Amino acid sequence: METQDVGHLGAVCVNRISMLAMTISAELEALGRYVFAPLPFYAPGSRVRLSGDGPSSWTNWIVVSRTAAQHRWGTLPGGYVSGPGWNDKQRMGGKPTLLMDSLVSDYSRRGDLVLDTHMGAGTTGVACARLGRRFIGCEIDGEAFDLSCERIHAAYAQGRLFA
Ligand SMILES: C[S@@+](CC[C@H](N)C(=O)[O-])C[C@H]1O[C@@H](n2cnc3c(N)ncnc32)[C@H](O)[C@@H]1O
Repeated sequence: METQDVGHLGAVCVNRISMLAMTISAELEALGRYVFAPLPFYAPGSRVRLSGDGPSSWTNWIVVSRTAAQHRWGTLPGGYVSGPGWNDKQRMGGKPTLLMDSLVSDYSRRGDLVLDTHMGAGTTGVACARLGRRFIGCEIDGEAFDLSCERIHAAYAQGRLFA
């Protein structure tokens, strides 16, 4: 399970196992947030996997919730479809850079603080650096943590070149 808590007012979680979407939704509801039905991220050509750490379905599910203050944000995308250039990822299970760019852009605001509890290769953090968000991340695997830090620091440094 990966969780991206996008912005201090909102939360977005992404996972491949649809049952987890229900668990995450319940947790967010318990925190007093209004939780929407999970949004799909669909990569055409992906398959139902019957082995490995699955079972997993052909979609990733994005759980989006809001607080009362966020009702002024209006309407936002109700799902994402992978397209050309959307398949780049650094590690198995990582999320495409363009998906995380879209989620961070749509569901947080400039200056918001974004939490990714399962950073992997740090794609969410890289998106935050590019889009002017602050970022906090956790990662249990030392090698992945080092790669994340390297990529995220480089992305923030790149941003400062143009500030
Ligand atoms: C699929 S990757 C994360 C992808 C990433 N969020 C992205 O946007 O590309 C899941 C990561 O969670 C890490 N992980 C698993 N259990 C964890 C835990 N208890 N605490 C922190 N990280 C954990 C794994 O090492 C793995 O790198």
